[in-house]
Amino acid sequence: MKKAGSASDPLWYKDAIIYELHVRAFQDSNGDGIGDFPGLISRLDYLQDLGVTCLWLLPFYPSPLRDDGYDIANYVDVNPSYGTLDDFRQFLDAAHSRGMQVLIELVINHTSDEHPWFQAARLAPAGSPARDLYVWSADNQRYKNVPIIFSDTEKSNWAWDEVAGAYYWHRFFSHQPDLNFDNPAVIEEVLKAMRFWLDMGVDALRMDAIAYLYERDGTRCENLPETHAAIKTLRAAIDADYTNRCVLAEVNQSPTDVRPYFGDGDECHMAFHFPLMPRIYMALRQEDRLPITDIMAQTPAIPDNCQWGLFLRNHDELTLEMVTADERDYMYLAYSADPRMRINVGIRRRLAPLVDNNRRRIELLNSLLLSFPGTPIIYYGDEIGMGDNIYLGDRNGVRTPMQWNPDRNAGFSTAVPARLYFPVIMDPIYGYQAINVEAQLSDQSSLLHWTRNMVALRKLFHVFGRGTLEFLSPDNRKILAYIRHYENPSHGSSETVLCVANLSRFAQPVSLNLNSFVGMIPVELLGYVPFPPITSQPYPLTLAPYSFLWLELQPAPESILPPL
Ligand code: NOJ
Repeated sequence: MKKAGSASDPLWYKDAIIYELHVRAFQDSNGDGIGDFPGLISRLDYLQDLGVTCLWLLPFYPSPLRDDGYDIANYVDVNPSYGTLDDFRQFLDAAHSRGMQVLIELVINHTSDEHPWFQAARLAPAGSPARDLYVWSADNQRYKNVPIIFSDTEKSNWAWDEVAGAYYWHRFFSHQPDLNFDNPAVIEEVLKAMRFWLDMGVDALRMDAIAYLYERDGTRCENLPETHAAIKTLRAAIDADYTNRCVLAEVNQSPTDVRPYFGDGDECHMAFHFPLMPRIYMALRQEDRLPITDIMAQTPAIPDNCQWGLFLRNHDELTLEMVTADERDYMYLAYSADPRMRINVGIRRRLAPLVDNNRRRIELLNSLLLSFPGTPIIYYGDEIGMGDNIYLGDRNGVRTPMQWNPDRNAGFSTAVPARLYFPVIMDPIYGYQAINVEAQLSDQSSLLHWTRNMVALRKLFHVFGRGTLEFLSPDNRKILAYIRHYENPSHGSSETVLCVANLSRFAQPVSLNLNSFVGMIPVELLGYVPFPPITSQPYPLTLAPYSFLWLELQPAPESILPPL
């Protein structure tokens, strides 16, 4: 008997709305200044009301937290600051009983240097099985052309270990040695960890840094055939013993390089669409749809059971690795006036500050997030327009406590403020007295209410998660217009939605060629307002600054069709 996941539909991840959060940042239940699982459980009603359907938890395992938990010291336990395994189980049950799926991190490229495997490896004799769990070398000359990802901190992908008397390989921080996937024992251990969480009932796994599993001379040590073979092994193990689970690939590469991670539908179910995100911001600042249509034109088709993961912001910097040098300069200029806002190859800011706290721009970007082909991922706090703190180190400025209310520590914790894992945001614009859940719940015009409505609206349609995309090409390039279409095989019904977005800060006219839809009535989805029927003439629309329209194209009722 295969072990079933909590969702009933095997393709549940296609219709999901994912909410990304850090347990440590969400709610502290015991007053130690650190969020925990009992705290998170107490906030599940909020998440259910928001309408999100899948909770993505950032790493919550035992860790020295030098990379916010992506430096794992034990794959099969919970960091005591966040609670116990039992607390996690309770959280999982509570999320499932609310119909929400749970996505957790499988960080297998590397461990913390405090992981007992590494501690044993450095003491073990060279060439021994224990030593070979990691990648060692007598010198630091191999794999010379491999890029350094954390370029602000690291000068080399090799680090010298005094105890071992050898160099070890690390694609990320030097305290994160890479596991050696050439050693079959590593895959065995990874399978064990994976099964541990899947057996417990976790629905989905985000495979962190999955492009870098193997190293080979003369390559960039990325996307190697061996890496794909290893992921296929993990997937086969999932398919053999479990149902309705999902694997999400974290591969920060061009869409053509990400495409192989879907395999023939037998590798990862989902993969993030990294390059789309900076291009959305570019299109907005340039008031030109080209950066978006261009990257989508470069996005290959994916197998039917696969899905892109879309996001506007996440816990990392807004990465600019996947844009050209000119585009990068442009993005830095447009979106990071203060050099402190930059880190590695990217910009460490939240959504609201990136768009100058402009509500219309926030809504416009979210309308794209929620209507583009893929599964949208909302980063915690962005639904209320939280700000960031660029004076915190690393990417921590976007990882501050969730702002629940105007009370002490934003309602996040009863600890003395100095004890919080990070200070809450306190400035007059984004501070917790101005931006918090409680205030926005009592304000019908708040961003929180707007987000909730949009999430609810999206969930009424299968077309957004499952349908095709076709761009229209009106002369006015400040307008992004596209048709989403879905034929529902199980109901024999179809959904067609026309999305129109004004990327400009000024009102814009547009004429759309809707010849394939003559006679249909566009119905605006937020208000269910019918627009004039489509004729063979260009369809004129006027859009307010940064506004968008979602128009369902419905067959005209017979009464208003002209007689034959
Ligand atoms: C990707 C994660 O998103 C990032 O936060 C982390 O630092 C690296 N992987 C290394 O684990």
